[in-house]
Amino acid sequence: MDRLENARKSVLKASRSYYAHLAYYEDLLAQRDRTAAKTTERELEFLEFAFRTHATRGIKDVLDVACGNGPHVIGLAHRGYKCTGQDYTPERVEMAKARAKRECVSVKLSQGDATRLEYQNEFDAVIALKIIFLLPSDDDVVRSLRQIHRALRSGGILVCNIYNPLYVGKGWFSGVIQKGLYVEESRARGIRITTINQLQDFDTIKGAAWEKETSIIEAPDGIHVFRDRERVRLFTYWDMLHYLQVAGFKEIKCYSDWKIKPPKNPKAKTLIFTSRKD
Ligand SMILES: C[S@@+](CC[C@H](N)C(=O)[O-])C[C@H]1O[C@@H](n2cnc3c(N)ncnc32)[C@H](O)[C@@H]1O
Repeated sequence: MDRLENARKSVLKASRSYYAHLAYYEDLLAQRDRTAAKTTERELEFLEFAFRTHATRGIKDVLDVACGNGPHVIGLAHRGYKCTGQDYTPERVEMAKARAKRECVSVKLSQGDATRLEYQNEFDAVIALKIIFLLPSDDDVVRSLRQIHRALRSGGILVCNIYNPLYVGKGWFSGVIQKGLYVEESRARGIRITTINQLQDFDTIKGAAWEKETSIIEAPDGIHVFRDRERVRLFTYWDMLHYLQVAGFKEIKCYSDWKIKPPKNPKAKTLIFTSRKD
């Protein structure tokens, strides 16, 4: 029991330090990078499509679990939803608060763990983007999905996503998992972030990998190098379907790569699940 709890704490600690290191610089990049803004717009379009298509109630109150620096929760607030966001990393919450203030939108933001959600029948929709595969264990995943189910009102929906481990094209997940190395550069005026991701360890029983990440940041306040590690769980379509069903969700649909049409490609890079609470 102690060993499990220690393993859990070590995953959370590594994740927290990684997201804390990058919070400020990713926010700066997001402010200056037009391509990232367009990607977020496309994701927001998809979220609204999912709300319209799969919920059987009107969507007003939205919770963003692991909201990060707030791109989606703030984007939805701009579109008229009443938004709440929470994230485990306090530095991310502060970035999201500063962004909401800068953009003059009202969003309720706080620090919180995705596996310790205490809401009950409070939201019409919950979004949990790029988080499920970062949770410390599969027990945490089920716990979190059950808590999200409880947080939803009847007829409300959850939208969550995973990187597809069966995807073989270019990208962070496939690069690290299949080739053991992925290097990426993101740049905008006055800032460049180069990340070198290396596969460090792989647990074939639990389907999880540890990656070592070196981030080299060239920013207005100087050059910084951060060395972090992160655990990622390689969920397949079938794993996610199973866990969503175990958590009590119905009408589970899967889309690929944020496309607003029935999915055709089982090898898509990103799988997005919509599921409803009856
Ligand atoms: C890859 S980022 C995704 C952020 C945002 N959802 C998005 O799509 O841009 C993962 C986020 O999850 C947060 N996180 C990691 N573990 C968490 C946990 N147990 N509970 C809540 N947030 C967590 C990190 O701090 C980070 O902001």
